[in-house]
Amino acid sequence: MESLDLVSPYLYKYKKRSFLVNDKMRPKDLDDLLDFELRPTDVFLVTYPKSGTVWMQQILVQIMDTAHPEQAEGLNNRDRVPWLEERSADNPFRDRPDPRMFGSHLPFEMLPLDIKAKQVKVVYVWRNPKDIVVSSYHFAHSWVLLETPKSFEDFFEQFLDGDVYMGSWFDHVKEYYAQQDQVNIHFVQYENLLKDLRGEVVKLCAFLGKDLTDEAIDRIVDMSTFKSMKNNTTANYKDLIEKGRYKKETMRKGVAGDWKNHFTVAQNERFDRVFKEKMSNVPITCTWEIS
Ligand code: A3P
Repeated sequence: MESLDLVSPYLYKYKKRSFLVNDKMRPKDLDDLLDFELRPTDVFLVTYPKSGTVWMQQILVQIMDTAHPEQAEGLNNRDRVPWLEERSADNPFRDRPDPRMFGSHLPFEMLPLDIKAKQVKVVYVWRNPKDIVVSSYHFAHSWVLLETPKSFEDFFEQFLDGDVYMGSWFDHVKEYYAQQDQVNIHFVQYENLLKDLRGEVVKLCAFLGKDLTDEAIDRIVDMSTFKSMKNNTTANYKDLIEKGRYKKETMRKGVAGDWKNHFTVAQNERFDRVFKEKMSNVPITCTWEIS
């Protein structure tokens, strides 16, 4: 096996990011993705892990596939918005009819160069990083490819150091933010989906060039609530529990502010300090309160 820059028995570093040792992606595979040929009609869903990817998959498939619902019959969202970094070598995945959708957690500099060259649409979902720490901590107890954290304290420190799957949240968000004038990108905040799902779906339709009826939009909203998705086997990834890849459900709580049940006062102050320092050139604050 080629030598990897190991962070732990579960993660290796490549270009400042952390990737899974027990996954099939290796540095060369990641480099090859740069030349993956895209079509101008492709749509990318990009997130830092635990930002609401599965939620946006459900919203996107419904917005994009209304013209051809028969194409989707029997398919789960993972096959309708497959992960670029997991499946790029798989031909049926490449040869899908338009509009192809892809999911990715990769940093911008590792995405195919065609994203910029062909102005491919990118939907980037971001979320309060404090809630991402908590969601990731629980997810690390579920996904068999991740190391089970020794304690929340330990995991909190790893997150701040970027020694977690896909590296630093701060870098991920900053890099995509910096691309906003050069890339055809639409930012969606997880907390805004919670506050006004319908309003966000309408904005997404405008970005994706989809003119849907009010009834179609109502249906998308109904199908994308936490409750509805939790019971929908094509959307909730529960099959991965049966397949032995997850130990617990990924549809965990689906709320904003769960960090308050996990962070100590000192951890919160420390997080705010790090946030301020690392995000000084990004005009967002570390407040994601939902009234
Ligand atoms: P929690 O662990 O905080 O509950 P990802 O899909 O990027 O892995 O993100 C997973 C997070 O999104 C989980 O957060 C999950 O519960 C939440 N989520 C998924 N679908 C949702 C929905 N319809 N409404 C609210 N949150 C949702």
